[in-house]
This record gives sequence, structure tokens and C-alpha cells, in this order.
Amino acid sequence: MKNDCAIFLQWALPQMKMRWAGFRKVHKQVCKRIGRRMKTLNLHNFGEYQSWLTTHPLEWEVLDGMCRITISRFYRDWAVFDFLKDEILPRLAHEATLEKRPLRCWSAGCASGEEPYTLSLIWHFVFKEKFPKLDFQIIATDVDAQLLERAKIGCYTLGSLKGLPKPWLAQAFSVKDNGYCIHSCFGKNIEWMQQDIRTSFPTGMFDLLLCRNLVATYFEPALQVAIYNQMKSVLRPGGVLVLGCHEKLTERLEGFSAKVEKLNMYEMSANPIFFHDP
Ligand SMILES: C[S@@+](CC[C@H](N)C(=O)[O-])C[C@H]1O[C@@H](n2cnc3c(N)ncnc32)[C@H](O)[C@@H]1O
Repeated sequence: MKNDCAIFLQWALPQMKMRWAGFRKVHKQVCKRIGRRMKTLNLHNFGEYQSWLTTHPLEWEVLDGMCRITISRFYRDWAVFDFLKDEILPRLAHEATLEKRPLRCWSAGCASGEEPYTLSLIWHFVFKEKFPKLDFQIIATDVDAQLLERAKIGCYTLGSLKGLPKPWLAQAFSVKDNGYCIHSCFGKNIEWMQQDIRTSFPTGMFDLLLCRNLVATYFEPALQVAIYNQMKSVLRPGGVLVLGCHEKLTERLEGFSAKVEKLNMYEMSANPIFFHDP
């Protein structure tokens, strides 16, 4: 049965423009969800579910919703956030201050808020005093409405917070019945939006775009290219795109220079050239 699910996913994922390679290590949670769905539909094996999909095309949307990996944590990949804090954000903050405009960050696929809150904590604890007049804005998007609701509540297990510097944990969170809850002031500069990155982007231009452990991991190359091309049109020249530690931009990198290749950060050039279909 376990293997049947892997075989089923290798058939189904490409039809949703997703790639099996991204799901190989983490497909068990997806298989559990599909198993529960099959029980609800009274289907007994993956062959029956495959036939169901053929005769009920709307089921593809349900399946799409089950193919989401939601793992995240605060200060995930500490070297990335250290580099943002020490090198990238000071430059971006300086430029935005000179140009008298807000500094805008987008966390795409923000899960339960771990990543945008990490940016907000860095802002509050490291930069706010140095750039008191700067308007620091974070747009946090995710396709999953439930995750966004959790993000707005902002309560977490200690396990997801252990990457944070200890003094920040003590100052920014209170222990409540439902876990460690972030003080509401750290969410004031975050705008939460339910969006599917395959079809919609937030409006306006961005200085920093975190798109980690989503597009390059789970989507097929042609869809990645389409999304990265669109990202180029919302990043300011000099703006920075950050991918996950195990992710790479597909194919050619024109329009982006690899800022720190090891950390998968790419700086936007002044004259972007767009990718071609692979
Ligand atoms: C593995 S988590 C990564 C969270 C965070 N970026 C990080 O690196 O810790 C992937 C997130 O992307 C979201 N996601 C999946 N498909 C999406 C889509 N089509 N549009 C927007 N978000 C999506 C999932 O709901 C999930 O919260």
C-alpha cells in the first residue's frame, strides 16, 4: 500500500505541474491525507482513486490541496538569516532610507508565519533603532487559509522556536495554554494574504523576496521558470531573492547574479533578462 501511494504520486504529481523528486522524502504525510480521503470516498485502493480522478475532474483540486508540505520553523537555516541580518538588510534599509520609501519584503509560502515573524524579530531587535524613520513592511502569502489563521494567532511549540536567539525568545513570546505566543507588536508590520503563487502575486515592488522550500522543490521546471520570471518583475534592481538551502534557480541565471551561491541568494540586476522555457 505504501509503495502504491508512491507510484500513484509519480503518476499524479506531473499532471498538477509538480515534481515527484521534491516529495520523495516527505511523501508520507501526503499519503496519509490521501488515505483518509480514500476512506471518506469509500475507495479501496489507489487504482480506484485514479479512476475516481478521471471521472470526477474536480477531485484534482482536492488532491492539489493534499499535496502541500507545511514544515517550517523560526530562523530556519541560521546562516541565511545571519547573512540577511548582517549583510543584506543593512544595505536594503540604507537604500530605502535614502530614497524615502518603505522597505518591502515578501515571504512566499509563509506557512504558519515562522519566516515572516523571524524577519520582523530581526527588524525589531537589530534595525529599528538604527533606521527609526523607515517603514519596514512584510507581505506574507500562503495558499493555505488554515495556516494563515494559525500565523495570525502566532502560538508555537518550543521545538519550532529553538533556532531563535534566547534573549529574543524571552522578550518576544509569552507562555500560554496553546504554546509560546508572539507578542502582537511583532505582527503589526506583517500583512497576511491567502494567495496561490501559481496564479497571483502581491502588488507593488519588493526589496527582498523569500521563496524557500516551495517553488524549486515542489513545482516542475516549466512552472518554476514562469514563476521566477514573474518574480523578476516585482523585484527592484538590487533586490534579493532567497531560495531554500537545497534549492537552485532552474536553468540560466540571467537577470540574477548569485549573491552568495552557498546560501542560494540571488541579486536582481538593473536590466533583467528573462528565462526561457526549459
Ligand atoms: C515547506 S513549507 C515552507 C515554509 C517556509 N517558506 C520555510 O521555508 O520554512 C511550504 C509552504 O508553501 C505553501 N504552499 C504550497 N503550495 C503553494 C502555492 N501554490 N502557493 C502559495 N503557497 C503554497 C504551503 O502551504 C506551505 O506553507
